[in-house]
Amino acid sequence: MRRSFWALLLLLWEPACRGDEVASVSVNPCCYFPCQHRSVCVRYSEDKYECDCTRTGYYGENCTVPELWTRVREFIRPSPDATHYILTHFRLLWDIINHTFLRGFLMRLVLTVRSNLIPSPPTYNSKYSYISWESYYNLSYYTRILPPVPKDCPSPLGIKGKAGLPDPELLVERLLKRRKFRPDPQGSNLMFAFFAQHFTHQFFKTYNRMGLGYTKALAHGVDAGHIYGDSLERQLDLRLNKDGKLKYQLINGEIYPPSVFDAPVKMSYPPNVPPERQMAIGQEVFGLLPGLGMYATLWLREHNRVCDILKVEHPTWDDEQLFQTARLIIIGETIKIVIEEYVQHLSGYLLQLKFDPPLLFNTHFQYGNRISLEFSQLYHWHPLMPDSFLINGDELSYKQFLFNTSVLTHYGIEKLVDAFSRQPAGQIGGGHNINAVVTNVAVGAIKESRELRVQPFNEYRKRFNLKPYKSFREFNDNEEIATVLEELYGDIDALEFYPGLLLEKTREGAIFGESMVEMGAPFSLKGLMGNPICSPDYWKPSTFGGKIGFDIVNTATLKKLVCLNTRTCPYVAFRVPSMTHPQSGKNDDKAQTDEL
Ligand code: HEM
Ligand SMILES: *[C@@H]1O[C@H](CO)[C@@H](O)[C@H](O)[C@H]1NC(C)=O
Ligand SMILES: *[C@@H]1O[C@H](CO)[C@@H](O)[C@H](O)[C@H]1NC(C)=O
Ligand SMILES: *[C@@H]1O[C@H](CO)[C@@H](O)[C@H](O)[C@H]1NC(C)=O
Ligand SMILES: *[C@@H]1O[C@H](CO)[C@@H](O)[C@H](O)[C@H]1NC(C)=O
Repeated sequence: MRRSFWALLLLLWEPACRGDEVASVSVNPCCYFPCQHRSVCVRYSEDKYECDCTRTGYYGENCTVPELWTRVREFIRPSPDATHYILTHFRLLWDIINHTFLRGFLMRLVLTVRSNLIPSPPTYNSKYSYISWESYYNLSYYTRILPPVPKDCPSPLGIKGKAGLPDPELLVERLLKRRKFRPDPQGSNLMFAFFAQHFTHQFFKTYNRMGLGYTKALAHGVDAGHIYGDSLERQLDLRLNKDGKLKYQLINGEIYPPSVFDAPVKMSYPPNVPPERQMAIGQEVFGLLPGLGMYATLWLREHNRVCDILKVEHPTWDDEQLFQTARLIIIGETIKIVIEEYVQHLSGYLLQLKFDPPLLFNTHFQYGNRISLEFSQLYHWHPLMPDSFLINGDELSYKQFLFNTSVLTHYGIEKLVDAFSRQPAGQIGGGHNINAVVTNVAVGAIKESRELRVQPFNEYRKRFNLKPYKSFREFNDNEEIATVLEELYGDIDALEFYPGLLLEKTREGAIFGESMVEMGAPFSLKGLMGNPICSPDYWKPSTFGGKIGFDIVNTATLKKLVCLNTRTCPYVAFRVPSMTHPQSGKNDDKAQTDEL
């Protein structure tokens, strides 16, 4: 990794990149993706373009020549794989760092380095491949990190690859469909999988009726819209209008979301389910899976529990203020759990992650967020889903599980949490691991990405400071995957974004490959820390109803979310029990003894 001082000198003297003349074919020159290092391709006449290298740290026709400081920075910057290796090894070292100021220092570094990859304010969208006011201002679009492939290019992904792309059904059938369930080597369980789905569906709400590339979730981030609805009208239907609480119903003496009969909101259920049996939840599709209904129930109970606490603290507050304050606490708890448990688990880092907004107060971090199409594509983590669901000694098929409104109340929250925490989820990366019931969703994602002209996987690699792959074999040393991809795409530079993410060789013992982490983490952390509650004028006790509310946010855990809202405390974690390392065992013990 360390090159010598002499190598540095040599690098500095290395002559500027030699360039050949631009081939004078009359295709849109931006189809070649000539502009490197995040520079902008602008077309002038028929075959003339310019790269705008402003503030990229590079110059030259295609912004390929590094400025002096860029050279130095590139030289000392460790590769993502090296960084990842350090962050996931040397346990003893991290045990020490966790207890020193270095933890905060490194956390700040992680947050700023990652967030700097996300433009803020956002730039393009699926309609505007150039900076425009409409693209900035119209929240109905998902944003785009890279603009769409120009419409007039010789091939669907620019100039590389075959004239036609592989049939998406064939692609999914041959490379993504599960043969035999392969558990995630990091030990993720269904509690994790349903959390992922539940959490992300507050900001991934593709609005196909309006057109491709649109979203219904106009808040573009962690707004708890999956609990409170994505419109004021829906929110008001879900609210009890008393003490800030949400409506609920009692079944077997336990609190559940109200029926649609009592809270008249539109839910997506099959037509044969009568209103009394439909549960009214913020997110309209959460009737789909008992795992989502379970989280919806937990958060509803948590909201009402927080309202009770706030009401005691502030007997003078009206329903509205109690509701609004509880909502901010719920958002804070969510971000806390996502960073310190969900992302912690997913990353496998030994650095103990920290949700501490003041870490960013003296940096150039911009508060605000816009959800991008690439993030939504990237998060299609359907390989997580198992082949059947094991609950309390029963094995439920998809047919028995999906849209079955009685699973939730039949077993109750404790049994479901326990079951989901014990059942392994599938490995996301590596191919051949999507259950046949949901392969269609992957087909849909690939079709969507084509209609919206998402750029090739390798262009995204470059955009996120990763080296583009030179061959399918470098991309994945699995002979079958490399051969089939070569046959289907012809050229590694024509490999598509989503198949690239799911089929890249996985890191050792990891749930997916390098690209998913290096591209996913920036979106994720920017979205979490860009939330208004993390900004200096919000992040203070009074925002959350005083010290009590602020403490609820700052001490939130998954375990408390469950066990403060159930009678008995089941096994609850994001990883299966047998996978518990001695180290995280310590963590579990800590959570166990946390005063609940
Ligand atoms: C059995 C479980 C699941 C089923 C039946 C299912 C089904 C679906 C369906 C039907 C869609 C819409 C596809 C389309 O409109 O083209 C979808 C979208 C999606 N799913 Fe799943 N899914 C499941 C689990 C998961 C899980 C565990 C995740 C994890 C994060 C996930 C993430 C997503 C995402 C990000 C989208 C895109 C949402 C949007 O853009 O609106 N799904 N899923
Ligand atoms: C810039 O990129 C174009 C298109 O890829 C290429 O033809 C040209 O040779 C490059 N110029 C330089 C100076 O590298
Ligand atoms: C956003 O763009 C869509 C499509 O052009 C349009 O229908 C919608 O009215 C726009 N929304 C706003 C707020 O301008
Ligand atoms: C440091 O943090 C990691 C990740 O949370 C954890 O596994 C490890 O036990 C921590 N070490 C100490 C000493 O707290
Ligand atoms: C729904 O779930 C219940 C409880 O687990 C089960 O007894 C029933 O068979 C399921 N219904 C269907 C239609 O599969």
